[in-house]
Amino acid sequence: MCGIVGYIGLKKARPILIEGLKRLEYRGYDSAGLAVLEGHSLSITRSVGRITALESKLGPEGGDATIGIAHTRWATHGAPTEHNAHPHVSDDGRIALVHNGIIENYRALSTFLAQQHITCRTETDTEILALLIGHFYEGDLEQAVRNALLQVQGTYGIAVIAADEPDRIVVARKGSPLILGIGDNEYLIASDASAIVEHTTQVIYLSDGEMSVLSREGFRTMTLDALPVTKEVHEVEFSLDQIELNGHEHFMVKEIHEQPQSLANTLRGRLHEREGTIHLGGIAQFSRDLAKAKRIIFTAQGTAWHAGLVGEYLFEDIAKLPAETEYASEFRYRNPLVDFGTVVIAISQSGETADTLAALREAREKGAMVLGVVNSVGSTIAREADAGVYLHCGPEIGVASTKAFTSQVAVLTMMAIQLGRRRFLSQAEAQILIAHLATIPDKVNHVLEQSDTIRTAVEQYIDRNNWLFLGRGYNYPIALEGALKLKEISYIHAEGMPAAEMKHGPIALISEGMPVVFIATRGNQYEKVLGNIEEVRSRGGKILAVATEGDTFIQQVAEHVFYVPDVPEPLQPILTVVPLQLLAYHAAVMRGCNVDKPRNLAKSVTVE
Ligand code: AGP
Repeated sequence: MCGIVGYIGLKKARPILIEGLKRLEYRGYDSAGLAVLEGHSLSITRSVGRITALESKLGPEGGDATIGIAHTRWATHGAPTEHNAHPHVSDDGRIALVHNGIIENYRALSTFLAQQHITCRTETDTEILALLIGHFYEGDLEQAVRNALLQVQGTYGIAVIAADEPDRIVVARKGSPLILGIGDNEYLIASDASAIVEHTTQVIYLSDGEMSVLSREGFRTMTLDALPVTKEVHEVEFSLDQIELNGHEHFMVKEIHEQPQSLANTLRGRLHEREGTIHLGGIAQFSRDLAKAKRIIFTAQGTAWHAGLVGEYLFEDIAKLPAETEYASEFRYRNPLVDFGTVVIAISQSGETADTLAALREAREKGAMVLGVVNSVGSTIAREADAGVYLHCGPEIGVASTKAFTSQVAVLTMMAIQLGRRRFLSQAEAQILIAHLATIPDKVNHVLEQSDTIRTAVEQYIDRNNWLFLGRGYNYPIALEGALKLKEISYIHAEGMPAAEMKHGPIALISEGMPVVFIATRGNQYEKVLGNIEEVRSRGGKILAVATEGDTFIQQVAEHVFYVPDVPEPLQPILTVVPLQLLAYHAAVMRGCNVDKPRNLAKSVTVE
């Protein structure tokens, strides 16, 4: 989705805005723009493509401005052109606005504006809002923004400046994240903290239906109905260093190799092996109620949904709790059967995914207890859930989710053990699982050593445009995740499914030389997987297998084998996904794809 940055203070605004946009480029990057104010002179620059294109277009005008707003766009309405890039302006060109979200009633508003003889010049819904604010402007920008937003249906995170009021920025949010950064005689606004963390770690998270007015002297926060709101100041928990490449070629490969550390951070302080218990402070007060739950529903999108699928196996296997996994986008609209005995667990790295947030709200509306398993501290899902568990895996910049996925699975594993101990899991059984879980970071480190082997294997199939990923049991969701990783960053078509399902149609796809990835680790379905491998081999498929260390037989039936250490089946997913992350990464690099900013994708889908 789009990225927003704003600054008001004593320093030159443009360098701060440009640097902030560069840190938000993973949110959307098909066009960008900024507006700055020098006295009462508003200067606007826009460009198609990357932030560097915008930077190269900046002229001398506006160079000394100390107030400005900026935007990097992921197009929803209107092609990604310079003309449609933000900021958009009022009819008289004296008010500039940047926006993240969707104005759903933009056609009705456009008709209203046309009746006022105000016509749109672009294809965007955002311009409608800028024109509407201009229409309501009578010398008070805050009031004009308020009057316009009261007409709007949809979602927004906006920042607005006006040539007639060069000492303030007005911001507002509903459905798209906005945070305020509090500096020394300077204030910033951003879609997420990574854009401003080098200037301040003191932030305020605006909630839906709130506005704020920033000046060099301070800021005010209020509801859209102008009721003053006092907001808590939070400390951003990550550093600049964590959002920089630090010598890595891409954020994705950095984050894949960070997993031993990120998993150690996720597990830290939560494993009590001697007692055979798990301590998750964020849900401690609910763990007794959770253990009495009649049903668990995991809801998420994309990779987080795959983590939920692993959670389903974990909760039923370890905690003996009925569990199911739902796409949030489906759950929110199908009038789900939810009651007081249902616990809904929303899983989200960003904590801002629109469908997941809506599913959480729908579940609570129906009386369920709602928990969040989230990485971004202070994000909307984290704040709106009744309670939750943070991943603590550090900011994930690469669009393809990797370390967040393994941390999500690690958290769900801990939750399953904790709830299991309140139900039928013995202390001894828990101690064994916890002891193995504690070794997972080191075991991931061991798997990462195979990166070159994996790259060599992938090279042999880099010209293939169709792959299959097959797994069973706990590794069925990993087959789905492996397929998604390959698709989203190398643009190779891939499909994941339960290994047994292949015979019910997809086996028709198998052709000579087709690469098929099997997760064939030791477990109660290993022999069955071997049978599926034979079915593929006999039709000319080429086998790439993820297998358990020590399994030499697999080498007789697979062209390539990537080994993972032997762990109990519930803990296998965190290990078996790593070779697939590396497989997708190497394929994307070999195919010359933009690994961290894949075409058409954004890191956080904050629109439906
Ligand atoms: C994963 O690699 C994708 N980038 C995408 O599927 C992502 O997992 C999904 O959009 C959910 O995002 P969230 O975890 O921030 O809610």
